[in-house]
Amino acid sequence: MQKIRAAITGIHGYVPDYILTNQELSTMVDTNDEWITTRTGIKTRHILKGEGKGTSDMGAEAVKGLLKKTNTHPDEIDLLICATVTPDMQFPATANIIADKAGIKNAFHFDMNAACSGQIYALTTAAMYIESGNYKKVIFVGADKMSSIVDYTDRTTCVIFGDAAGAMLIEPTFEDVGIIDSIHQSDGSGRIHLHQKAGGSVKPASHETVDAREHFIYQEGQAVFKFAVSRMADVSVEMMKKHNIRPEELAWLVPHQANLRIIEATARRMGINKDQVMINIQKYGNTTSATIPLCLWEWEDQLKKGDNIILAAFGGGFTWGSIYLKWAYDGKRNQ
Ligand code: UT7
Repeated sequence: MQKIRAAITGIHGYVPDYILTNQELSTMVDTNDEWITTRTGIKTRHILKGEGKGTSDMGAEAVKGLLKKTNTHPDEIDLLICATVTPDMQFPATANIIADKAGIKNAFHFDMNAACSGQIYALTTAAMYIESGNYKKVIFVGADKMSSIVDYTDRTTCVIFGDAAGAMLIEPTFEDVGIIDSIHQSDGSGRIHLHQKAGGSVKPASHETVDAREHFIYQEGQAVFKFAVSRMADVSVEMMKKHNIRPEELAWLVPHQANLRIIEATARRMGINKDQVMINIQKYGNTTSATIPLCLWEWEDQLKKGDNIILAAFGGGFTWGSIYLKWAYDGKRNQ
């Protein structure tokens, strides 16, 4: 029997209106545009403002836009997976809330938390449901309101993160396009370098945890940087070797946008040029689960059917991995 492949057949994104500039950050903490630009590549990030607004509001906007541009009725969706580290609440899953807000009623939904690699883990999981032959339309949405867990008195983390969501429609195909392979890895011993100390079952919320600012991101930047640089490059080079992809045959590397220096080091190791790499970190910062969908959304009109694309991510956990796919359609889908 012919193998079913899973193809991305539509992509949409959402970024909130408010733009937090390096200049504004320099009035909040002891930092400056020069430091942020040279160390991270970030100039601006978007922040979700408004009482009662959460990750699901951005995710639902991305999903509604995706349904519209792909002419898909909400009832056609079989499964929706949300990757996030900033769920609206501990439970129910933010995927349930996004689906409700987007009018999706005939599907099941769940969240995946693998920090910044959640987006590629979730895409691989979505692809496997499609490849099983039992599911016809699956949505993966990566959404994070990072501003809800960023300490805006900590200059080492507050300059990095932004809020956004991106959603993809995944469908079966028998053509020579779609998701071809994935390599995913994790190492839980890396958790000491990047985590949120309180709010879970080990240290539930208390007055003390709030006073100690333990509900915010804790990151040992240099330690994470070292692992991210080597692991993201290793797994991308491994994917190229495994599929005999020469640098000039790769249309795009779509890397997680954590730090411009990590992205550039990965591209160098892969032997590819800067114009083969999607980079928008300067506008959005690190939006955790949304960086890769946001890139594909922004570059959608330049993509061609059959383009060789490698997605790569590294994140808290530690978690990391890469996906090799052939893009499934030409240009932008109808708006
Ligand atoms: O997406 C999830 C995975 N996360 C990542 O991949 C993040 C990986 N890490 C990084 O991107 C980088 O380590 C950071 C951007 C977080 C930090 O850059 P760095 O080049 O590693 O800086 P550093 O932590 O070594 O700090 C260098 C100096 C320090 O001052 P001293 O000790 O040399 O006097 C910091 O206190 O820069 C200082 N510093 C700042 N100065 C101005 C740290 N943050 C800032 C700031 N503005 N915002």
